[in-house]
Amino acid sequence: MSNRREATLRRLGLEPSAGDLVRAALGGALARAEAARMAQGAAPPAVVVLDAGCGRSSALARHRARIGRFVGVDVHEPAPGALPYLDEFATVDLCTVSDAFAPATFDVVLSSFTVEHFADPDAAFANLARWLRPGGSLVLATVNRRHPFVAAYLGMPDALRRRIQPLVKASAADAHPLVGACNRPAELRDALTRAGYDEIRIESVGHLARAWGRRRPTFALGLVGDLLTRGIPTRRSTLVVTARIPGPAA
Ligand SMILES: C[S@@+](CC[C@H](N)C(=O)[O-])C[C@H]1O[C@@H](n2cnc3c(N)ncnc32)[C@H](O)[C@@H]1O
Repeated sequence: MSNRREATLRRLGLEPSAGDLVRAALGGALARAEAARMAQGAAPPAVVVLDAGCGRSSALARHRARIGRFVGVDVHEPAPGALPYLDEFATVDLCTVSDAFAPATFDVVLSSFTVEHFADPDAAFANLARWLRPGGSLVLATVNRRHPFVAAYLGMPDALRRRIQPLVKASAADAHPLVGACNRPAELRDALTRAGYDEIRIESVGHLARAWGRRRPTFALGLVGDLLTRGIPTRRSTLVVTARIPGPAA
């Protein structure tokens, strides 16, 4: 999205952005993990992180210097050299593969705009919970079906949505199948609780203008959607979630 459109959104008070919230959540999760590792006598950078559904960019990349081991997984293998910040990449379907990593491998897991694609969110959350260390943190960003435009988009017949997706996505490679099985705040909270997480915190933010901001008409539509729900937290388009696996506080 252009700087001018971003400036318009800031001028209209449409902030923080989903990116701002994810950055803050990751900053807190990494600080907690660093303190836990230090308490165990590990020399920094010792924190082990997973980007689960890493796609083609990661909000964790900016923290690379603080990370001892940086793993990415996705159902699609990236082009060679596309994710230079990763130490390892593995092709993993989070909903079906439970043994990709040993239990308690990771301090922090990020899963950004993936939950809406999960065929079996319960299985994916359980896998991520198993791979997190006690006291480890999960950070999620996903869409909120309680927003009327998101509900309409996810509720469309697949064939129609496939025709619309190229308007809002940078390329066809970014248009992944959508399921939306667990995309309301209460459903997310229940699913994460079932999977064993606690300290679940769900924030919402209007993100449609930014997500659809590549073209002027879709930016304008997104802006209407964001303004429509700005005063209604349960209905804003995008959810940023932090949750923890019970365990020792740092
Ligand atoms: C919208 S993209 C988001 C990519 C990246 N996380 C980001 O924030 O830019 C969704 C990503 O989730 C991946 N994905 C979808 N379902 C998945 C699954 N069951 N297991 C692993 N990755 C999955 C897709 O292949 C895609 O790369």
